[in-house]
Amino acid sequence: MKIQQNISLKSYNTFGIHVNAKRFVSVNSIKELKEIIASEKNIFLLSGGSNILLTSDVKKLVIHINTKGIIVNDFAADEVLVTAEAGENWHELVLWCVSQNYGGLENLALIPGNVGTSPIQNIGAYGVEIKDVFHQLEALEIKTGKTKIFTNQECNFGYRNSIFKNELKGKYIITSVTFKLTKKNHSINISYGAIKDLLTDKEKPSIKEIADAVIAIRQSKLPDPKEIGNSGSFFKNPVITIDVFKELTKKYPEIPHYVISENEIKIPAGWLIEQCGFKGKRFGDTGVHEKQALVLVNYNNASGKEIYALAQKIQQEVMEIFKIALEIEVNVI
Ligand code: EPU
Repeated sequence: MKIQQNISLKSYNTFGIHVNAKRFVSVNSIKELKEIIASEKNIFLLSGGSNILLTSDVKKLVIHINTKGIIVNDFAADEVLVTAEAGENWHELVLWCVSQNYGGLENLALIPGNVGTSPIQNIGAYGVEIKDVFHQLEALEIKTGKTKIFTNQECNFGYRNSIFKNELKGKYIITSVTFKLTKKNHSINISYGAIKDLLTDKEKPSIKEIADAVIAIRQSKLPDPKEIGNSGSFFKNPVITIDVFKELTKKYPEIPHYVISENEIKIPAGWLIEQCGFKGKRFGDTGVHEKQALVLVNYNNASGKEIYALAQKIQQEVMEIFKIALEIEVNVI
């Protein structure tokens, strides 16, 4: 394990922002991770770099989690437990599970990032969130170096949320995640409109067909971070009260929405941003993606500060026009 000096983080974040890490270390085992957290006070954890916007150089020691491995516990006739180390690439894990015909993760194909950070924001797409298939995770307490298991309930999962974004923020390092997946008679989820549309002729599509449909949908509207820097949805979809919603429908009868509860409605932030005229707009090297207004992009050499300034401009405009506060989903550092 070697601590390197002055490393560019450009290839370690999906926005492709160039900032320097004063000190940087890549860890390949939990033993190494324990050693480093025992000896360093000011650390900055970096996983797949798919949910961060870096706005300045990082002075703390950057720890890049690069632990690999997948273990299968074939404990029942219908179900299987799959444990993946934190540094495993998320999409590769999904593809591997699909290749084994293990069902449960297929709707979450092609989400950038690594396994270890997936529970922090309870990643979700196309009708499934990881809480639906999450069994447990193992984490190291940074202060003591002790290992702790967190069950599904203990993670307090919510929409793009968990205990690791709240009470336990910055206190634990997730080292592995276990998913409970199906082997036979899998309970597939094709409720999401666009998936249904692609699989119209299939009564019960295979998990491979669902994964392929999800990949096709994502590729058709979300930019590939390898081509255009981005961090997926930059904002959360806001939840408003039914009264606010009714008021809005007077002016915008076509407003897309999802009913969350008796009194709560979720509005796609992408729609709000598009209505404000930002979709496809470019400002220097940053901009709003042309096919999905929820995604801010780095066309080439944008700085984190420029992207953050655009995000603030969008928040102001949405507030002015709709009186709705957009919450940033990405971690701004
Ligand atoms: N819409 C617009 N204009 C846009 C984008 C969206 O009007 O530019 C409207 C359309 O009416 C569309 C609706 O918003 O029907 C929903 O759009 P979409 O299906 O793309 O989903 P989303 O709500 O914008 C969420 C997640 C995505 C996830 C998709 C699919 C959040 C913050 N984002 O987006 O997650 O892939 O649903 O399930 O909840 C991510 O987190 O990085 C991410 C991409």
